[in-house]
Amino acid sequence: MAAPRNIVILTGAGISAESGIDTFRAEGGLWEQHRIEDVATPEGFERDPDLVLNFYDMRRAALATVAPNPAHEALARLDAEFDGELLIVTQNVDDLHERAGARRVLHMHGELKSALCRICERRTPFEGTMRQRPACPMCESRSLRPDVVWFGEMPYEMDRIYAALRAADLFVSIGTSGAVYPAAGFVRDAREMGAHTLELNLERSEGSHWFHESRQGRAGELVPAWVEEILR
Ligand code: OAD
Repeated sequence: MAAPRNIVILTGAGISAESGIDTFRAEGGLWEQHRIEDVATPEGFERDPDLVLNFYDMRRAALATVAPNPAHEALARLDAEFDGELLIVTQNVDDLHERAGARRVLHMHGELKSALCRICERRTPFEGTMRQRPACPMCESRSLRPDVVWFGEMPYEMDRIYAALRAADLFVSIGTSGAVYPAAGFVRDAREMGAHTLELNLERSEGSHWFHESRQGRAGELVPAWVEEILR
């Protein structure tokens, strides 16, 4: 294809796997260790808020023990050096894209280091733990919840994402199983609007056949090589 001028990248848990963060659907992954209905639904939170706050408190604390890997670093380099349009849409709630230096990042499933107030509905940066029920810095009610999109809730900034997909001439999906919508449908949306589509994943994902091209391997190797191709 001609040199791309407008790139949308979708990342998933696989890009952070080599940093030591568990993916969701691997053998022994997060969804084998915990039930989705318990820790990733509004109903689970109503039933047992302590269990849910604890789950995200632990995942937030674990961020201090991990670091960006060469895949995050390569995307940060692309962000700094690519002079066309770029949007990195991540399903990940970790902060490894930002810690690698990427700026054009959108967290469609929220962030561990953000809190959502159930009373005033504002989002504020958050460090530490929620199980002691800290007060919302905006309205002071003790109603903070993790700012993470749960099953049955709408992901963030879908209008902005679809606008970017419509304008993209290249869509690249990295380290995601293609099991969760709407993200799993982005490849079809981008393709219908004329983008070239590329998958970089350890194995063929559920939606692999939708991509023009699928490369299998570790993100830490595939992503730097692909970024090199784009910036050459
Ligand atoms: P999954 O755990 O479903 O998929 C991770 C994908 O990354 C798999 O296809 C793996 O083969 C691949 N993978 C693993 N290690 C890799 C590596 N080193 N290099 C490249 N690829 C690798 O995670 P997601 O697709 O991100 O949502 O899951 C999507 C959403 O489901 C998450 O955002 C989360 C979850 O439920 C919410 O919590 C709302």
